[in-house]
Amino acid sequence: MLFNVSAFAHVIPEPTEDKSTGRAAWLDEAKYGLFIHWGVYSTLANGEWVMNRSKIPVAEYKEMAAKFNPTKFDAEEWVAVAKNAGMKYITITSKHHDGFAMFDSDVSDYNIVDYTPFKRDVLQELKEACDKADIKLGFYYSQTQDWEFPGGAGRKWDLPAQRGDFRNYIDTKGLPQLREIMQYDPTHIWFDTPHSTSVELAREFEAVVREIDPDTIINSRLMYHGNQVEGLKPEQLTELTDIGVDFLSYRDRTIPPHSPWEYWETCMTLNGAWGYRASDHNWKSPKAVVMQLVEVVSKGGAFLLNVGPTAEGEIPAPAIESLEAAGDWLKVNGEAIYGARGTIFEGQGEFKNITAAEQAALDAEALATGAGKAKKGHKQKDYAWLATGRDGKLYLHFFQCPTEPMVLHGFDADKVTGAYFLADPAKAPVQFEQDGETVTIMLPAKPIDELNTVLCLTLD
Ligand code: GLC
Repeated sequence: MLFNVSAFAHVIPEPTEDKSTGRAAWLDEAKYGLFIHWGVYSTLANGEWVMNRSKIPVAEYKEMAAKFNPTKFDAEEWVAVAKNAGMKYITITSKHHDGFAMFDSDVSDYNIVDYTPFKRDVLQELKEACDKADIKLGFYYSQTQDWEFPGGAGRKWDLPAQRGDFRNYIDTKGLPQLREIMQYDPTHIWFDTPHSTSVELAREFEAVVREIDPDTIINSRLMYHGNQVEGLKPEQLTELTDIGVDFLSYRDRTIPPHSPWEYWETCMTLNGAWGYRASDHNWKSPKAVVMQLVEVVSKGGAFLLNVGPTAEGEIPAPAIESLEAAGDWLKVNGEAIYGARGTIFEGQGEFKNITAAEQAALDAEALATGAGKAKKGHKQKDYAWLATGRDGKLYLHFFQCPTEPMVLHGFDADKVTGAYFLADPAKAPVQFEQDGETVTIMLPAKPIDELNTVLCLTLD
């Protein structure tokens, strides 16, 4: 939802499509979740596509699966990582494209309980740990792409092993396994890579979810790939509503400028990989994590941040450190994130004292041209400041300190009644002046918090 202070001249318009079911409302409140890509591929420590990229024959990959033994896996520890990070939900791969199930599946013995010396049901253990910690748990499920099962969608490099009938795959593995993971009572199903998916097929998957739990929410990758979402036409969005999709999943590592739907999510890697990649040490700093989280929330979405645990079952230490530090910031500043709404000042991000007319022109241009267009890949923009809000409150997030008083325009009908820093236990008043629609704020030269100092403006 967008920050709806009526008089903000430069607030992006309300979403055109209001989701009537409201099933995904919790996502808007939660805002921040942990994505976990974990499976047999973690053994090769080179991402979750390794089987495909290295054209590993099915039989050979299965030999590796038969040795998968992540003895260091501790569901409670993982959930504690999410909890300390300030995350409210977890989305874990229940079956990725390699076809291996991380749960006890009756449909296929190619699963962690029946096929490995480990023999433990990862989803079950996580479910119990999440319930204890009050964290929501949902499952990624690769519904059509399957490199193990004959006929599963995706590139084939091992024939005849991978040859088969797609419909047979759907009927004997895809749909039945979805039914199985629904037994763990997930809050959401995160579909991915909808190859060969007709509206009818999407409806079949949706029907399984709804039959078992009408409240479980599902993402748009049931029907459209992430990279299609930005370009969806109104009739395609309506189609998604009809199919029963609850939230949009944008292209990997992409923060859209604004979304036509109220409920949406950006998924992001903490380094450059989803599945564990030993050579990738390019970890985002705590400040980068906080900045991206704020950027997503400032645009009205939810942020799903990924870690790829090792084959032993450990989340890499640098990932935990970054997440924890960002979590410490959230402990103090959470009200500016959880359940907060987006508010876009076009031209935000830099310190520039501009006139109201210049601001209005910037806003108009941004709306017309889609400026601030989604950035592809994980090259992160470095913002000086961003804004989020809720009824009666506007939060200004400072990643740098301005060297001059800051001038904001567009407060036509809103009177600013107070200003204080969230990190200041005394909530001492910060000096500001309002002249009509213009508010000028005097900020200290030193940040209170190096990661992000949040100034709360109260509005009448
Ligand atoms: C892509 C990839 C997949 C990954 C996903 C995460 O769809 O195919 O490997 O799980 O992005 O969003």
